[in-house]
Amino acid sequence: MNFIRFSDLCASGKAAGQRVFIRADLNVPQDASGAITEDTRIRASIPCLQMALDAGAAVMVTSHLGRPTEGEFKPADSLAPVAKRMGELMGREIPVVANWTDGVEVQPGQLVMLENCRLNPGEKKNNEALARKMASLCDIFVHDAFGTAHRAEASTYGIAQYAPIASAGPLLAAEMDAISKALANPRRPLVAIVAGSKVSTKLTILKALSANVDGLIVGGGIANTFMLAAGLNIGKSLAEPDLLDQARAVIEAMKARGAEVPIPTDVVTAKTFAFDAPATVKLATEVQDDDLILDIGPETTAKLAAQLKAAGTIVWNGPVGVFEFEAFSKGTEGIARAIAESSAFSIAGGGDTLAAIAKYGIEKDVGYISTGGGAFLEVLEGKTLPAFEILQQRAEG
Ligand code: 3PG
Repeated sequence: MNFIRFSDLCASGKAAGQRVFIRADLNVPQDASGAITEDTRIRASIPCLQMALDAGAAVMVTSHLGRPTEGEFKPADSLAPVAKRMGELMGREIPVVANWTDGVEVQPGQLVMLENCRLNPGEKKNNEALARKMASLCDIFVHDAFGTAHRAEASTYGIAQYAPIASAGPLLAAEMDAISKALANPRRPLVAIVAGSKVSTKLTILKALSANVDGLIVGGGIANTFMLAAGLNIGKSLAEPDLLDQARAVIEAMKARGAEVPIPTDVVTAKTFAFDAPATVKLATEVQDDDLILDIGPETTAKLAAQLKAAGTIVWNGPVGVFEFEAFSKGTEGIARAIAESSAFSIAGGGDTLAAIAKYGIEKDVGYISTGGGAFLEVLEGKTLPAFEILQQRAEG
């Protein structure tokens, strides 16, 4: 994919003394008191800011936080706690500037945070006048917010249209590189794991991947629907019987390409959905009408692990069982460890997947961990994200 890299602008001295506007994704979870409970996105945004400062730029960074009502400031919507946390991590004061669209005072070597960009009327709808105002604040626009790359808003899309230069920051560039390595030019076999509670929420992903991957491992409620489609009894497990035709179509599409959707041969069941419910391992053909399937069994886990270890590329979205409950966590743990041990290039994304990666401590063994939630899913759906599209257009135009 062709786009201007901010790192190249910095390396060639083009950012020195320039006003640089960085759109980051600092949309982090907070508790009821406003304290930040997880700061991965703040940490992931720092290399870009540091790069701009080291290059001698005057640096402005902004992000959305939550989904506030435009034009109505409430203290809970403020980026102040984010600026404080980022300041601690960077060892510097980061002032927060409110009402910034008409002008920002910032000198080379300084870094300021522009208050929650979703407070600006017109942000969500990508209002042209707002986007032009933002663009006029800078010499270089840097999109470094992969988590919002699927949104076309004024601070993510419009500003990129009108800024003198529009570039990709190091985080966005790394995501773009990892995605094309995994999906556009994968080392084969390419194996994807798509798990979650419902086929309906991931149907477009399953369809898109079935045209590209060599193995499509399904898990969770999605696997239950596929088991049902394969003629197995799944008891009272979560499934979507009205989507059986769609599941069969995915299986057939894969088969036609000589690829497959492996159907679990054994499972872990319980009679109730509870962390202390007695777990029973049984063959997939022996599931009773009052059983709930809560994980894949050891035989299935071993087969899938072998497939993952032999893969050239792995894309992982979703745990294959109820891994929050110890008795039903072995399948997800087995998959996680197989990915960690595999020499394949792996890319993982999605909230539950990141939680599983953290639980099994395999962060360093995954090729790339995406910071995107909805954005990562849209990539798997085969969509071109607006951020990628506009940066490419600006690089070529
Ligand atoms: C996210 O948390 O996935 C991103 O920050 C995007 O947030 P949004 O769904 O509110 O646009």
